[in-house]
Amino acid sequence: MIKIKPVAAERLPDLLRLMPKAELHMHIEGSLEPELMFALAQRNGLAMAYPDVAALRRAYVFDDLQSFLDIYHKGTLVLRTEQDFYDMALAYLERAAADHVLHAEIFFDTQTHTGHGLSADVVINGLHRACVAGRAQFGIDSSLILCFLRHLSEREAFECLEQALPHRDKLLGVGLASSEVGHPPEKFAQVFARARQLGFRLVAHAGEEGPPAYIWSALDVLKVERIDHGVQALQDPALIARLVKDRIALTVCPLSNLKLRVFQNLAEHNLGRMLEAGIVATVNSDDPAYFGGYINQNFCQTFASLGLTAQQAYQLARNSFEASFVDATAKAAYLERLDTCFETFV
Ligand code: ADE
Ligand code: ZN
Repeated sequence: MIKIKPVAAERLPDLLRLMPKAELHMHIEGSLEPELMFALAQRNGLAMAYPDVAALRRAYVFDDLQSFLDIYHKGTLVLRTEQDFYDMALAYLERAAADHVLHAEIFFDTQTHTGHGLSADVVINGLHRACVAGRAQFGIDSSLILCFLRHLSEREAFECLEQALPHRDKLLGVGLASSEVGHPPEKFAQVFARARQLGFRLVAHAGEEGPPAYIWSALDVLKVERIDHGVQALQDPALIARLVKDRIALTVCPLSNLKLRVFQNLAEHNLGRMLEAGIVATVNSDDPAYFGGYINQNFCQTFASLGLTAQQAYQLARNSFEASFVDATAKAAYLERLDTCFETFV
């Protein structure tokens, strides 16, 4: 670990933007910007429910997770072809690379799209092709994590896993997303056990709106390696101790938490307290097209609101690489680039 020089508050945004980072919590369908949504609707001969981009953006006001998921789901209706998934993912990778994201582990789901009559093959092939192109065109590494939708049944999650298996080599892991409260992790115990046998890396959303008990069961029943969100963990001292002891990372998404009213303002966010407690927290964008910013916006706004420091910026970026699922060699190479950035920043 290098020694971090203090950085004046007005220079911190530059450092936050420049520093190499990994993004570990980003739903590709949540990167679909209104402009691209309108373009895809036109290309596919579909009508939009809003007259223009500005009207659509004005509708992005949410009370909670469910009110967001209802609008988000409607947005996915414009995705009809492999090319649509490719275009959406490549647009994200270009933006992420501009934010100095070196590595992205991207969430997607197939159940939304198979529910609209598409095959899982179309979704996975389009996204995978974009990951390959992202590396060639923008120098960004990326991989795919298939999320099961927790408001659906475990039987449907098994079907989803089955449909994805011909593409096993294109997938890094499985996750769990969608409406949290009332759908505890243990509902998916069997399908996660099967995915684990198959060698998938495991993550799950837990403790976004749901209680600390959901984080416990994601860890102890599903045996996930990272927790997505996990902001409710700070209510439970024993859980904090467990996260710290086992170095379980939380993929925190501050602007998402703000827009979905998990916190009423960013100054109340518990990211700083997580770092003080020794939790391996990371900063991510969740659904940036809906929540008003990509990863660097999440960093800059949160740092401004909480008064966080260059040392904490380094810690968060370092955590993002340490919590990623890349091998030890790649991790060491990313961390070296991170150290060089902090050593040479003036
Ligand atoms: N799917 C997309 N964004 C999500 C979030 N913040 N929580 C749960 N499921 C999601
Ligand atoms: Zn999420």
